[in-house]
Amino acid sequence: MPKPPTGTVTPASIVEAMKAATHGPSGVRASFARGQCVRGTYLPSDRAKEITKCRSFTTPSRVLGRFTVDGNLGAADADRRMLRGFSFRLGSNGHRSDILTQSAPVHYARTPAQMLGFLEARMPGPDGNPDPAKVAAFSAANPETLHQADHVGARPPTASFAGTTYWGVHAFPATNAKGETRFIKFKVSPVGGDLVLSEDEARAKPADFLHDDLKIRIAAGDVRFSLMALLDRPGDPVMDVTIRWPDEDHREAVRLGTIVITRVAPNDACDTALFDPANLAEGIGPPPDEIFAARSTAYGLKLLA
Ligand code: HEM
Repeated sequence: MPKPPTGTVTPASIVEAMKAATHGPSGVRASFARGQCVRGTYLPSDRAKEITKCRSFTTPSRVLGRFTVDGNLGAADADRRMLRGFSFRLGSNGHRSDILTQSAPVHYARTPAQMLGFLEARMPGPDGNPDPAKVAAFSAANPETLHQADHVGARPPTASFAGTTYWGVHAFPATNAKGETRFIKFKVSPVGGDLVLSEDEARAKPADFLHDDLKIRIAAGDVRFSLMALLDRPGDPVMDVTIRWPDEDHREAVRLGTIVITRVAPNDACDTALFDPANLAEGIGPPPDEIFAARSTAYGLKLLA
């Protein structure tokens, strides 16, 4: 049986634990602290409206985005254990949606209590490092909390933010103009495919190489992603963000549109207009799982405000 966490489980206590576990200073994001703000455009496909009436996805708009590396400000781009993130805001006045995605299709905890326990097991001890015995004991009692690290560990290091696949992880209820609602998962696929490095190449890369590569690619031309909706099947586990849907990689998928990143933006633009997963326009509803409910409050803490 999973061990109960020792602290009180609230979104605020989880955010505090995230900061403590990663030595994060105040006034900085509790995770995905390093990143680059960008701007671009969204072009919907003809099929988007079959899936959702949400105007964020069915009409062209400008895009505010942020590519990130998980962890604190000291996380190196080449640290392959760190997830990559891509957050973006689509839509115009009254119809904006924020979609926050990461380079793994699952989260590391099924419930807020399990997330707090995961973080508490990784609290730095007197030597500044977590106690490996505590981490091992928590992992043994909560094996699903290793699914995310297993996914990352099974893949080669990424060579570029522009060549990374990102997942929205949760199951979102999408309603189309006929009033039909089904669950979808967002997947953001780089148009040129995934770009990867060998372990040796990754080790030789400088600390900021993903950020430098992004700027070079944007200066040379547009960076494009297909925004995909993976379609549900009856019985899919929509309440558990630590497991994938059966055969998820081969699901029927509809391309909602194309995200075209056209320029690098000052990071202030993303720091003042923080991305909030609860910001979803009519036609895409909040996912029903417990982790999503905690996120809405956690991001509302406005750590940078
Ligand atoms: C499926 C699970 C999750 C995913 C995919 C995810 C992804 C992300 C991403 C991509 C960012 C960077 C946002 C940006 O670009 O500005 C972020 C930030 C953050 N996340 Fe999550 N996250 C997840 C779960 C959670 C949970 C459960 C909590 C807490 C209860 C949490 C707390 C935070 C906080 C506090 C920030 C910093 C927000 C800010 O100050 O701007 N996350 N997350």
